[in-house]
Amino acid sequence: MKRIGMLTSGGDCQALNPAMRGVAKALFNSGEDVEIYGFLDGYQGLIYSRFRLLNYADFTGILTKGGTFLGSSRTPFKTIREPGPDGIDKVAAMKQTYHKLSLDCLVILGGNGTHKTANLLREEGLHVITLPKTIDNDLWGTNMTFGFQSAVNVATNAIDCIHTTAASHGRVFIVEVMGHKVGWLTLNAGMAGGADIILIPEIPYDIDKIAKKIKQRNAHGSQFTILAVAEGAISKEDAALSKKEYKKKMLKIRKEFPSVSYEIADKLAKKTGCDVRVTVPGHTQRGGAPCPYDRVFASRLGAEAGELILNGEYGFMVGYQNREIVKIPLEEVAGKLKMVPPDASIIKEAKLLGISFGD
Ligand code: F6P
Repeated sequence: MKRIGMLTSGGDCQALNPAMRGVAKALFNSGEDVEIYGFLDGYQGLIYSRFRLLNYADFTGILTKGGTFLGSSRTPFKTIREPGPDGIDKVAAMKQTYHKLSLDCLVILGGNGTHKTANLLREEGLHVITLPKTIDNDLWGTNMTFGFQSAVNVATNAIDCIHTTAASHGRVFIVEVMGHKVGWLTLNAGMAGGADIILIPEIPYDIDKIAKKIKQRNAHGSQFTILAVAEGAISKEDAALSKKEYKKKMLKIRKEFPSVSYEIADKLAKKTGCDVRVTVPGHTQRGGAPCPYDRVFASRLGAEAGELILNGEYGFMVGYQNREIVKIPLEEVAGKLKMVPPDASIIKEAKLLGISFGD
């Protein structure tokens, strides 16, 4: 008999359901006696012992469904050792729930913060297997996270739609793309959508270089310009500030401009005289059905996770490296961010295509 607990934590993304289905199918189809407990709303379900015993039917018909049928929530790692408002010791409570149900393993689907807590639970002696989900693709140890390709599709679609209206009106358009502190999503959606300028956190921008590029395009007869701007994009000037100075500056600036895109739009309008508009697709990038790539990818990761559990191999994230599904020790993954290397070949190739990074 194998008793498994499963939870999805952090911001959701499109292929959580297919990934859980993959794990469950591999386990149920093995012929072993298996019980799967689904914890509701991420680590909250584990802390407060809110769960449901799941059966085969729970995992059917969900391959094409976005979101997570278990629900998700953010349980910040930063305060995981601090008692909650109700005085509860979160780590002790999670361990208690695990032992109360006599679980053999927890399957945890999540991004960066989730992996830190998963690793902490491993250090506390629990058996854990994780799966890499996030539209940001910023998890260390895997070339790809599920949710990412689906989000690239949504963000690309937004840029495609903006392209036609930008052309009709001869406007400068900024499409703000999610991705937290990294630029994978913006870079890929920007290239797929034919953006003329792509701004990512890893390559701080110079506003004058961007204005110059727009003016050059206008001079060459292109009356519109599309910018794909990462929500975490940062100017050279701001990147040179200390964390404290930057925070202080942002507290003031964000009162006037809700995000970096609006700040850039204001400056560009003044510097170029162009009509500049901002579009923020926001959480639509995390919503809707998983794309076919993610359905297959998440199913594969899930199935491999199921196999690890059947073999009694714990303490790994199931990831993707060099076109192979691999298991990576959790301690190697937790707490590290996978950023876009500014010297990556994709950046060089984008520049060869004439895309400006504002650097
Ligand atoms: O990590 C996924 C993500 O969508 C980021 O791209 C974004 O910065 C963040 O989550 C938004 O978080 P929330 O859903 O809590 O607003």
